[in-house]
Amino acid sequence: MASVSHLVYRKWLFHLSKSRSVSRHSSQSRLFSTSSRCRTIMPAWVIDKYGSNDVLRFTKNASFPVINYPNEVIVKVVAAGLNPLDVSMRGGYGAATLSMKRDPLNITQSGSEFPLILGRDVSGVIMECGLDVKYFSERDEVWAAIPPWKQGSFAEFVVLSANEVSHKPKSLSHTEAAAIPYVATTAWSALVNTGGLSKDNCAKKRILILGGSGGVGTFAIQMLKAWGAHVTVTCSQNAEQFVRALGTDHVVDYTAGPVEEPLSTLEKFDLILDNVGGGTERWALNLLKPWSGAKYVTLVTPFLQNTDRLGIADGMMQTAATVATKALKHLAKGVHYRWGFFAPSGPALDEIREMVDAGQIRAVVEETFSFSQVPQALEKVEKGHARGKTVVEISKGGDDL
Ligand SMILES: NC(=O)c1ccc[n+]([C@@H]2O[C@H](COP(=O)([O-])OP(=O)(O)OC[C@H]3O[C@@H](n4cnc5c(N)ncnc54)[C@H](OP(=O)(O)O)[C@@H]3O)[C@@H](O)[C@H]2O)c1
Repeated sequence: MASVSHLVYRKWLFHLSKSRSVSRHSSQSRLFSTSSRCRTIMPAWVIDKYGSNDVLRFTKNASFPVINYPNEVIVKVVAAGLNPLDVSMRGGYGAATLSMKRDPLNITQSGSEFPLILGRDVSGVIMECGLDVKYFSERDEVWAAIPPWKQGSFAEFVVLSANEVSHKPKSLSHTEAAAIPYVATTAWSALVNTGGLSKDNCAKKRILILGGSGGVGTFAIQMLKAWGAHVTVTCSQNAEQFVRALGTDHVVDYTAGPVEEPLSTLEKFDLILDNVGGGTERWALNLLKPWSGAKYVTLVTPFLQNTDRLGIADGMMQTAATVATKALKHLAKGVHYRWGFFAPSGPALDEIREMVDAGQIRAVVEETFSFSQVPQALEKVEKGHARGKTVVEISKGGDDL
């Protein structure tokens, strides 16, 4: 049951959202709007503590999202894509930093993030818009990547900033669309914001993607090929056909022996996107063209582990010291060392939508599950080695629960 305070809070917030229903006295020209759809609960998969898959709990009484800021929208979720991050977050990865993002002044008690809803990708329909939202209307079909500090998409509804949302590609179903936003905005942030690439400067650039057969790599290959780059990828031998079908020019099998040996015989690269981490930093930067502005961008950083382990202040200090030391060391050898991070972005998704609708990027869905099968879907992602994304069709199977 929703608490009385929650109901009062929702009532206090209703004036922030546009609504269609108008009071009986509207003929006297004062429009007094109330939400005709004033719901307080919804079905969702939640976790109440961190752990393995058995911490997942289905409830019909999760708090219905509310519009707290006038630039927010409530989206009815049709499909939710899964990412390895959902498995990591279920186990507590990033808990310290994400809690700080949710509650910067540390007003609430520890553990207040629960019940937590996972799910970083959404494709759905706008149900309600805040008063300042001009770009979207109710019933618009949209897609978005949900920041990890917000409640996720394994639920019937989710609230997002309009800046994080974009109109869904017309050429994709909701299920297909839900496979793209999180990996796409991560790749965009790493390659465009951090790596400095764009559709106008990519032609003939030599790009190496370490770990190209996963979610981020699969998207990055297609985007870089659409922009005219030459793309080399490392992946396991059984993924070779898969990455070639996406446009990859050259494939190196990492399971056949130390991958740096065949890579070092190739012409040097303008940019390396590292989705693998671990020991790759020891040799990967030697593969870049020195003194030419070439960059190594890794998505595998110790940032969240540092803050989880050392706390926010010490973790951030440690992180800053590590990245600065590495960047300086490699700058002395004429190459740039950078860390890439996911960044939610509606405008980036707008550009990606155009590429999708132009047939330059396709959604790669490997398997779909119904709403009742969220635990099975997470189990599948946890096993790894997928050749495409796992998507939960939230609008299907809810009645089985
Ligand atoms: N910093 C951020 O904000 C951020 C955001 C998103 C993701 N990430 C990180 O980025 C990485 C990629 O994410 P993702 O969603 O693409 O993961 P993913 O779907 O699990 O893909 C990882 C891929 O790496 C391949 N792989 C594993 N070991 C390899 C090796 N030694 N050499 C070459 N390939 C190898 C696997 O290929 P095979 O199946 O062929 O073995 C797998 O397909 C993850 O580490 C993730 O944590 C970071």
